[in-house]
Amino acid sequence: MTSRTPHLNQPPHPVAREAWDVHRLPSAEGKTFLVTGGNAGIGYFVAEQLAGTGATVVLGSRDRTKAAAAAAGIRSRVPDARVRHVPLDLADLASLPATVEALALDRLDAVVHNAGVALDDPPRRETADGHELMFGTNHLGHFALTRWLAPLLAAAPAARVVTVGSFAAKSERLDLNDLQSRADDYRPKRTYGRSKLAQMSFGFDLDRRLRALGSTVRSLVAHPGGALDSLTPSRPPVHVRTSGERLRGLPAGLLIQGKDAGAWPVVRAVLDPRAEGGQLWGPRVFGLRGLPRAEPVAGQMADAALAARLWEASCELTGTDPEAGFR
Ligand SMILES: NC(=O)c1ccc[n+]([C@@H]2O[C@H](COP(=O)([O-])OP(=O)(O)OC[C@H]3O[C@@H](n4cnc5c(N)ncnc54)[C@H](OP(=O)(O)O)[C@@H]3O)[C@@H](O)[C@H]2O)c1
Repeated sequence: MTSRTPHLNQPPHPVAREAWDVHRLPSAEGKTFLVTGGNAGIGYFVAEQLAGTGATVVLGSRDRTKAAAAAAGIRSRVPDARVRHVPLDLADLASLPATVEALALDRLDAVVHNAGVALDDPPRRETADGHELMFGTNHLGHFALTRWLAPLLAAAPAARVVTVGSFAAKSERLDLNDLQSRADDYRPKRTYGRSKLAQMSFGFDLDRRLRALGSTVRSLVAHPGGALDSLTPSRPPVHVRTSGERLRGLPAGLLIQGKDAGAWPVVRAVLDPRAEGGQLWGPRVFGLRGLPRAEPVAGQMADAALAARLWEASCELTGTDPEAGFR
């Protein structure tokens, strides 16, 4: 459980970044964070851990009942948590301005672009807007949401956009000629990995653009490693793990982790004053499990020219440009 107890009596550490303690987070009282998909999985744990800092946490969720359950779960761990819900459907681009309106905020200190959909099997599906479901939700939804959140982020002294990527992106390559994964060659795992790569490329490109604009907002990318429900502690009523599931999950725990630990790199990217825009945060052990650390940004994730072309295509597909919101 997260604690509001400040770090007392700790000797100074020679490597500052090692001093981060995932169980003793710095206070963020007075700040407000939005977590997309905060009603379940990693997003729930990101919200729970952020709520423990004293910040106000808004759960962006398309399901009011699930959001209420998540808020109840968080309050059972953090009794004085400031947590609320805003309706959010990333697969419905036209609904996003109303979501931001419903936040009823003057400023936002961070948004965590966490919500995601991962289909394991065909058939190919589409959003209401006619975009392939994973690319449309994971990338285009967050791309457009950033546009509408931009004025709130710019109004905070040093806001952050934290995009949740995936190790699955590292072995994929974007195909700018087939961003929507044509039906005649549809491979769900490839489409998912590409949607995460698009998100990560966006996260790094956003940071370059914010700096060029002279904005105080920063964009960081984080990924959870491998995170399984069977390795995740129970959080009734959101998630209940049976003892059988826990036992069956034990071998996997050598390689990967629970969603509570998967949240750590994301939370660090939101809170750590030493984390910088343009960085990638992930788990320490083979990028799959363990404490959070900054990782090198390589391959297509680091390709600024490709990112610029993706940005242009995303503007066309969503009919909006996040950069315009920060000008
Ligand atoms: N778990 C892993 O091993 C892993 C590894 C790498 C990266 N990731 C990334 O981590 C993030 C969270 O993954 P997870 O494992 O926690 O997934 P999860 O348990 O399936 O949760 C996904 C969340 O996204 C929400 N969501 C889906 N479609 C949405 C939409 N159209 N509008 C708003 N919210 C929507 C879901 O809401 P509902 O409850 O309403 O469906 C849910 O809250 C994702 O971005 C995923 O790509 C996960």
